[in-house]
Amino acid sequence: MSETIKIGVLISGGGTNLQALIDACEDADFPAEIALVLSNKASAKGLERAKKAGISHFVVDHKKYPQRRDFDAELHKWLKEARVDLVCLAGFMRILSPSFIREWRGRILNIHPSLLPKFGGEGMYGHHVHEAVIRAHEIETGATVHIVTEDCDLGPTVLQRAIPVYRFDTAETLAGRVLDVEHQIYPQAVAHMAEIILDERRRPRHDMDMNADHHPVKPDQEAILRAQQSWNSFVSMGKISIIAIAAVLVFLLVAVY
Ligand code: GRF
Repeated sequence: MSETIKIGVLISGGGTNLQALIDACEDADFPAEIALVLSNKASAKGLERAKKAGISHFVVDHKKYPQRRDFDAELHKWLKEARVDLVCLAGFMRILSPSFIREWRGRILNIHPSLLPKFGGEGMYGHHVHEAVIRAHEIETGATVHIVTEDCDLGPTVLQRAIPVYRFDTAETLAGRVLDVEHQIYPQAVAHMAEIILDERRRPRHDMDMNADHHPVKPDQEAILRAQQSWNSFVSMGKISIIAIAAVLVFLLVAVY
């Protein structure tokens, strides 16, 4: 079994993307394991999937937290307790607070059913996305896995895959084909992020310190040695020349007088 990172999956509904991640984690070579599933809705079907797979799962009901930051603080507590390395939003229908995003900077992934930055942002979710794609007569659409930043749906793309939009497509047919693509690319994107996190973990501490800001550049010991040697020979050559000149002067003086 390979080394793994721990992921926490946040859901609100059906959890078919969660299922794709559960299935991927069954492969012994997949570099991640699901430590925890959190849902803001007790009715989310994804909770059944977690239960069936024997994964810890809890409901954090957003309605019990009038302040968004208190709801996010509760999520944060659960994720930290489960020692999660990477948070995966999989159909999670809550906007996360800037402080939560800062706390997990670069460590939150989301999957979106369009070729971002097209058809993203507020109000662009579920069937709204596919309806907008058809209205705009797009010839292709697809899915995007991206890192979550404070700008809704505008974080850096980790993986994106396009599919054609056919003339006979409806929002429903499109949604189905895009969802198939989501199930392929989410595990791939998670594996990619996991390799990056594992690589950072394996790197020796002093290497990271040497690369840190404000740290002096590692001196090249050989170059210093070479410089010292040439200075020493320059000095010795100088001494020999002075002695030779002095000897010539003495010889001339003796010859003249
Ligand atoms: C997916 O289309 C995903 O792109 C979006 O929400 C939907 C969730 O589906 N963020 P599921 O709950 O994973 O089945």
